[in-house]
Amino acid sequence: MNISLWNDVDIYFSSKLQKSDPIMNSILKANAEAGLPAIDVSPNQGKLLYLLAKLKGAKNILEIGTLGGYSSVWLARALPEDGHLVTLEFSEKHAKVANENIRNAGLENQIEIMIGPALGTLPILKKRLLSFDLIFIDADKPNNPEYLKWALELSKPGTVIITDNVVRNGKVIEDDPEDSNVQGIRQFIALLSEESRIDSTAIQTVGVKGYDGFALGVVK
Ligand code: SAH
Ligand code: DHB
Ligand code: MG
Repeated sequence: MNISLWNDVDIYFSSKLQKSDPIMNSILKANAEAGLPAIDVSPNQGKLLYLLAKLKGAKNILEIGTLGGYSSVWLARALPEDGHLVTLEFSEKHAKVANENIRNAGLENQIEIMIGPALGTLPILKKRLLSFDLIFIDADKPNNPEYLKWALELSKPGTVIITDNVVRNGKVIEDDPEDSNVQGIRQFIALLSEESRIDSTAIQTVGVKGYDGFALGVVK
């Protein structure tokens, strides 16, 4: 088993199971041109997010961590016409690129970007009395435990909560006090394991994004 084989298989599946997608390609191109880090979900992961949102019949989606809007567009494509996605982004630069990408994808009426640190914008969503059918957590990893608490605040029975990057090359099982990203993920997993309001699992993944994984939970 080797990384190059994992990449080839990932590309084989995306080439077979996804149609040529000029919109998604143009988002990745615009992100690269703007100098954004290439840490978007992969094409197969994006399609998985889309399919999960479809399975759920999600009408209201929350994303924490927009970057250039690649995963936002995948998720928003699953929405019905009157559905909405709110995505939270700290960086004005990332939000500007995402905004342009979302307009080019024709989804500006369905996607709202809220700029600012997510721990500042999440309470605003709560004040607006919003709740979501699906929540995707994919921002700064040290805050994952706080994001899970907020996700539960903004949930209802049946809400799907998906969290990216919970494996990080297997680092998740190393209790390294120096690595705040890993600590954030470990505290997030500890919280999931103690939290009786959510039923969850975590799945390891390999492919074009290396060795990582995601956690999936459903609110009881
Ligand atoms: N979901 C995106 C990738 C997100 S990368 C995709 O798959 O396409 C993580 C993003 O979270 C970055 O754009 C980063 O600027 C943003 N971020 C980091 N800290 C944040 C914070 N405290 N609040 C909101 N966004 C944050
Ligand atoms: C990083 C962040 C992500 O959300 C991701 O999917 C991959 C890498 C990072 O910050 O390095
Ligand atoms: Mg991620």
